[in-house]
Amino acid sequence: MDAVNHQVRLAARPVGLPKPTDWEHTEEPVGEPGEGDVLIKVKYLSLDPAMRGWMNDGRSYIPPVGIGEVMRAGGCGEVVKSRHPRFAPGDHVTGITGIQEYAALAGDGLVKVNPGLAPLPVYLGTLGIPGMTAYFGLLEIGKPRDGDTVVVSGAAGAVGSVVGQIAKIKGCNAVGIAGGEEKCRHVVDELGFDAAIDYKSENVLAGLRRECREGIDVYFDNVGGEILDAALACLARGARVPLCGAISQYNATDGMQGPRNYMSLLVNRASMTGFLVFDFAAHYREAAQEMTGWMQDGRLKSFEDVAPGGVDRFPETLLRLFSGENLGKLVLEVSPD
Ligand SMILES: NC(=O)c1ccc[n+]([C@@H]2O[C@H](COP(=O)([O-])OP(=O)(O)OC[C@H]3O[C@@H](n4cnc5c(N)ncnc54)[C@H](OP(=O)(O)O)[C@@H]3O)[C@@H](O)[C@H]2O)c1
Repeated sequence: MDAVNHQVRLAARPVGLPKPTDWEHTEEPVGEPGEGDVLIKVKYLSLDPAMRGWMNDGRSYIPPVGIGEVMRAGGCGEVVKSRHPRFAPGDHVTGITGIQEYAALAGDGLVKVNPGLAPLPVYLGTLGIPGMTAYFGLLEIGKPRDGDTVVVSGAAGAVGSVVGQIAKIKGCNAVGIAGGEEKCRHVVDELGFDAAIDYKSENVLAGLRRECREGIDVYFDNVGGEILDAALACLARGARVPLCGAISQYNATDGMQGPRNYMSLLVNRASMTGFLVFDFAAHYREAAQEMTGWMQDGRLKSFEDVAPGGVDRFPETLLRLFSGENLGKLVLEVSPD
């Protein structure tokens, strides 16, 4: 194949927010798929807060991206060549493509998706990893019961927006915490939460006391920091706190801020449990089927924020997650046609 593959590689380990010099833009000829592999033309890339952690050295749930390596990313694209029996040119798939225009990947790691059922970016959002994270984190770790009060931070984002909507489907009172008036309006008016708290303009503790008079039964934590502390201060007896992420701390340069109010877990016989969505991979298919049903009957809405510009725009587009400029799932458009 004569085409050129443009890529973005990690050039340096960032300190604080990633800078343009932490990235290297490279190009190379498009590779040929080996036996069992599939060559994919990438159409959309998933931009995730977790990418910031993958850029750090040190032990985590997945090895760091090496200096000089193509940046790790989930993506969705079209098969252009296949040496795997399950895939043929023209099929659409999701997988770990990396920040590049073409990826030759092992077919066994790819999932076939149907663009006739949902637009491709949805497979990187509500029907992809963020949706699975919301589904399993809330239902398996949060264990919501009918009538419970469920609070979620990052409520207008990819994971949080789905958490609140599933909480409503399960008969709970859903309260979102998000940054800014527009996001809070979106959370209530478009997503159907019962209430939203704007952490940028009001005191979160006061807002939680107002909206959760009987206390919080499930606090789904996407952000950590001060907001986690405010939620811990309002737990109901027996509350569950799924620890999904801590985006407010990912760019900290002087150590992460841990919870101060953790004794509330003892006082309220509550639990806080970290989880990783990948541990539920064996059940993604059933979850996606159930969520597709909810989407078809209008109970679950999916919002994607599709940024234009191709792989060269990856460095600045990633920063939108940390400035809160995204509404719903942040996706980078690479080659939509
Ligand atoms: N455990 C797992 O397996 C798993 C899997 C996927 C994702 N996650 C985690 O889930 C969380 C949400 O991820 P996502 O993909 O859905 O991202 P997202 O919510 O779509 O985007 C990130 C949002 O975080 C908010 N934010 C940024 N800085 C903040 C700060 N300092 N304080 C409070 N909020 C801040 C912004 O919203 P505002 O405008 O409202 O501030 C921003 O839009 C992340 O922590 C991520 O690491 C965990």
